[in-house]
Amino acid sequence: MRPKIYVTRCLPEDAMRLLGENFDVAFNPHGRVLTREELLNAVKGKDGLLPLLTDRIDDEVMDAAGPRLKIIANYAVGYNNIDVEAATVREIAVTNTPGVLTDTTADLTMALLLSVARRIVESDACARAGRYQGWDPLLLLGTDVHHKTLGLIGFGRVGFAVARRSMGFDMRVLYHDRQKADAGIEDQVGATYVDLETLLKESDFVSIHVPLTEGTRGLIGSGSLSLMKPTAFIINTARGEVVDEDALVRALEEKVIAGAGLDVFEHEPAIHPALMKMGNVVILPHIGSASMETRTKMGLMAAENLIAVFRGKVPPNCLNPQVFE
Ligand code: DGY
Repeated sequence: MRPKIYVTRCLPEDAMRLLGENFDVAFNPHGRVLTREELLNAVKGKDGLLPLLTDRIDDEVMDAAGPRLKIIANYAVGYNNIDVEAATVREIAVTNTPGVLTDTTADLTMALLLSVARRIVESDACARAGRYQGWDPLLLLGTDVHHKTLGLIGFGRVGFAVARRSMGFDMRVLYHDRQKADAGIEDQVGATYVDLETLLKESDFVSIHVPLTEGTRGLIGSGSLSLMKPTAFIINTARGEVVDEDALVRALEEKVIAGAGLDVFEHEPAIHPALMKMGNVVILPHIGSASMETRTKMGLMAAENLIAVFRGKVPPNCLNPQVFE
């Protein structure tokens, strides 16, 4: 008998194929996030789950799955949607998909940064609306990116990859994290460690790259935003809850900062209605890792984690290896 697994959304073809070759696979056919009730029903009697960041996997879901559940293989690098502690108590392995989406997310961060600075979305809308009437010295003036200061909140894989990209723009790079990186790492991208206050005060672009934890929830609120330059932009491709969205809206309305590039939102998929009306805000529907190559790699990685567990091995991306001790 092949292990029974449940996949909460249809994944790219190669990943579905690998899962199908190894497991008795059931998946959500609806093309939307499952309701809580649907999720609780779908996981019943499963040996493994492959959820997304949109699925809250907590005690209730693990209870609904029952005692056979051995692994929760998240299809994301972030795992704030999973109660890892509860899984560990039940000796259920939890895995994520680190590394494979680093460059793709860093690419999108640069795209957002360039879009807000150079008013790409507004310019596209202007041209499409037939408002381009000839070259104009004052048309859609933005702000330069090159030689400006980039402040990275979080200097893990993605933060570092963004720093690497910024070198091509001759940017000065500041970063803040729980701890200072090794000098060798800093030197590779010319990054300087500073406290959060200095980073906020001196950066022209503040880009967020921390995971969502109780320590980072609401990290950027009105106090932090008020330290930023009125000409500065905030970019968020990490988790929406790191920024207090009401405070961000107020800061934008009161011109405390110049604009924002957002791929994630505090109450995702809901987006603050005020943000939707602002021309100086670029809004994306959480597509940081959304390239065919990367979403396929994430799926294959999640599948490999599942395969390892049912072959009696510690999965390669295990977040709670103690369950195998
Ligand atoms: C993640 O992996 O955590 C992203 O937010 C989704 O790609």
